[in-house]
Amino acid sequence: MPHRPCSLLAVLCLVLLPLAGVAASLPLIPRPARVDLHEGRFVLARVTPLRSAGDDAAARAAAQFLRDALEAVDGPRVQLGPGRAGPAIEFVSDPAAPAAAEAYTLDIDAQRVRIAAREPAGLVHGAATLFQLLTRSAQVTDLPALHIEDAPRFAWRGLMLDSVRHMQSPDEIRALIDQMALAKLNVLHWHLSDDQGWRVEIKRHPELTRIGAWRTPPGAGRDGEPSRYGGWYTQEQIRALVAHAAARGITIVPEIDMPGHAQAAVAAYPELGVTGTRPAVSVDWGVNPWLFNVDEATFGFIEGVLDELMALFPSRYIHVGGDEAIKDQWQAAPAVQARMRELGLTSENALQGWFIGRLGRYLDAHGRKLIGWDEILEGDNLPAGATVMSWRGSDGAIKAALTGHDVVMAPAPTLYFDHVQSALDDEYSGRLGVEALRGIYAFEPVPGVLGAAQVRHVLGVQANVWTEHLPSHAHVEHAVFPRLAALAEVAWSSAAARDWADFATRLPAQLARYRRAGVHVADGAFAVAIDTDRNLALATGRATVRLSNQSGVGTLRYTLDGSEPRADSLPYLAPLVLSLPAHVRANAFAADGVALAAPRERRLDRQSLLSLPGSALPNCPGSDFRLRVQPTPDATSTQPVYAVNVFDTCQQLPPTRLDGVTAIRVEAARLERKYALAHEQRLVVSRAHATPFGELEIHADRCDGTLLASLPLPDPAHSPRRFPLTSALPALSGERSLCFIYTAPIDGPLYGIGRVDLVPGP
Ligand code: ACM
Repeated sequence: MPHRPCSLLAVLCLVLLPLAGVAASLPLIPRPARVDLHEGRFVLARVTPLRSAGDDAAARAAAQFLRDALEAVDGPRVQLGPGRAGPAIEFVSDPAAPAAAEAYTLDIDAQRVRIAAREPAGLVHGAATLFQLLTRSAQVTDLPALHIEDAPRFAWRGLMLDSVRHMQSPDEIRALIDQMALAKLNVLHWHLSDDQGWRVEIKRHPELTRIGAWRTPPGAGRDGEPSRYGGWYTQEQIRALVAHAAARGITIVPEIDMPGHAQAAVAAYPELGVTGTRPAVSVDWGVNPWLFNVDEATFGFIEGVLDELMALFPSRYIHVGGDEAIKDQWQAAPAVQARMRELGLTSENALQGWFIGRLGRYLDAHGRKLIGWDEILEGDNLPAGATVMSWRGSDGAIKAALTGHDVVMAPAPTLYFDHVQSALDDEYSGRLGVEALRGIYAFEPVPGVLGAAQVRHVLGVQANVWTEHLPSHAHVEHAVFPRLAALAEVAWSSAAARDWADFATRLPAQLARYRRAGVHVADGAFAVAIDTDRNLALATGRATVRLSNQSGVGTLRYTLDGSEPRADSLPYLAPLVLSLPAHVRANAFAADGVALAAPRERRLDRQSLLSLPGSALPNCPGSDFRLRVQPTPDATSTQPVYAVNVFDTCQQLPPTRLDGVTAIRVEAARLERKYALAHEQRLVVSRAHATPFGELEIHADRCDGTLLASLPLPDPAHSPRRFPLTSALPALSGERSLCFIYTAPIDGPLYGIGRVDLVPGP
C-alpha cells in the first residue's frame, strides 16, 4: 500500500515533517528515528484483530506482547488469531524490512496497521511503538495514518537490578521487564551475588543458597524484624524469566561478582576464601573485605558455577563483577602471596587482572564474552574481547576504548537510580544527591574525547538500580520511573533528536501509561515545592511563597482555602504574599488538565515555620556524604525516612529567628549502623559521651559553640526506635543556628533526626 502524502496541509507538512513538531504531536518515548504523518486514520473495532502468519513465531510473540501490554492497562481490545478479512493489525517478519539491527517499520492506513522487521526484536519494538499510539490518551478509538521507520542508536540499552541487597519476586521482575520492553531497552543486567547474599540456585553447590542466601539482620526476630532475610531464584524461575525477557527482545545478563563482594559465597564454602574462617553472610552495606581464593580448587568451583550459569542464561555476555575488591586479605595470606610469586606478579592488582583474565579465557572457550566493572582494567591483563562497564565516571570507558575494548556507560552518580529523584521532604530512601529526570535526559553516553575509531567501542548505556535502600518493589519502581523514560530516549534516539522541551510534552502521556499499568511511579520531578523565607515570615507575619517544580513540566496551580488544587485552580504566575496563617496546596497539571503529581501542601503559621524535617538540616562541615534511610521494620512502607551521614552524626539547623522560643523538641530515631566502610572506617567521627548510650548535644550557632542542652539517649533494649527528646532553651534572639551532635558510641546504633520543633513560649 503506497503512503498517501499529506495533501490537505501539504505545505505545512513539508515544513514540519523534519522538525520536532510532528513527532511531538505523537507522545512516543523513545522518540522514533523517522515519523511521516499521512492523511487519514485507522479506526479501531470493538475488538481489533491481531494477525501474524501461522509459521511466523516471532510475529506471534510480538502480537502477544502487544495484547498483554494493552490488557495490563485496560487499553483498546485486540484479539489474536486469523480473524476475518478486513481491517487488522499485522505483524510480519519481513526480509525486505530495513537492515539495521533491531529496526522496524510501522505503517498505518485506513485498512491496516502493519509492523514489519527482519529480527524478532524489531517486531517487539514496533509493538511497543504501537502500544504507545494506542494509549496516547485515556480513550483511543483510532490511529493516525503514518509511516515510522525506526532503529536504535545503541546496541546495549540496559538496566541493572540488584536482587541481592533486597530481593524482588519473579512477578515483580516480570513487571519491570515488561516496562523495559515498552521503553525499548534490551538488557537486564541481573546482580545475583554479593556480600549480602547468593541468589542463584547452583545445583552442584547447594550450600551457596542453603547458607549463602540468608542473612540475619541486627535485631532479628524483634521489633517487627524477620528472623532472617533472603531467598534465591530457582533454576526453573530463572528459565521462565529468561524466556519472558527473550520474548520481549530483552537479554538477561547475569552477574556473579568476583573476586570481591564474595562474602556470601565464602560463608557458604569457607574454602573459597583465603582466611580459612567462615564469615556470616554480611548485613553491612558497602565494601566488605572478603575475597575469593586464587587456588586451583577455587577456580574449579567458579568454573562449575559459570557452567550452570551459561546453561541458564543464553546471553553472550556474562558479568563477572570485578569492582571494589580491596586487597587486604590477599595481602595478608601467605599462600596468596606465594601464588603471586609463582605467577611472576608483583602486585595484588596484577593478581586481580590475572584472575579476571582467567575467567575471560574460560568464558571465551565456551563461546561467551566477559564483561566487568571498570576495575577489570586495573591489572593490565584484560583479555582482548572483554567489555568494560564504566561506573566510576567515564575515565574507565575512555581508557577501555583507547585500548580497543568495548564499553558500556553506566556512570555514577548520574545513572545510579538508587540516588533519590528529588529534594522533597517526602522523597523515599536512597543515596544523595539528587539525580533528577532532566539530568538523566541530558546524559550523553559517548565521551567527547573519543575519536571516531574509539566511538564504535561504546556499545551503549545502562542505569543501575542498587537496592541497599530499596527494600520493596514500590521502592524499586519509585527509583526507576519515570527516569527509565529518559534513559530510554538517551539509549535509543539519536543525540540530535534529543530535546528536553519536546520530551516534556510527551511525558504526561507516559506518566498516565505507568499509572494505568499500576507502576508505582515517582512524582518528585513534577510535584510542587512550596518555599518561603521562614525568617522574614516570622519577623513580619507575612510569607512570600514561591512555587516551583523540579522539571519545569506542567502548569502550577494552587488553592488557599484548603481545597484540592484542580485544573481550573489559580495558575501560579508570581510569588504569593500571604498573611499568616495560610494554607497553600499546589499541583502541576499537563495541558489536558491531568494532574502530574499528588498535590503537596504547606501550612504557614508560627508553629510550622519553627518546625523543620531532619532532611532540611544540612550536615556539619567536614563531610557531605549523606543517605536517606528507613528503619528496617518499616520496609513495607516508604516513610519515615531519615537523612544521615554515617561518618558523622552531626547536623545544623539553618539560621532561624529564635525570638520567643523557649524550648526544643527533637524527634529522634535509632537506626541500624550497618555500613562496611573498608579503609574509610577511620573517617567515622567518634565522640566522648557521659551517659551509657550517648547524648544528643545541642550547641548554639556552631558545633563548638555554647552547649545549650545534653539529652541522654535511652537504652536501646528498652525503648522504641523513635523517641522524642525535649529541653528548655535559654532566651536567644535574632537569627541563630543550632548544631545537633549525637555522641553515641560508633560501635552501637546510628541516630537520626526526624524533625526539630522549636517551641515558642506562652
Ligand atoms: C559498583 O557500583 N560497585 C559497581
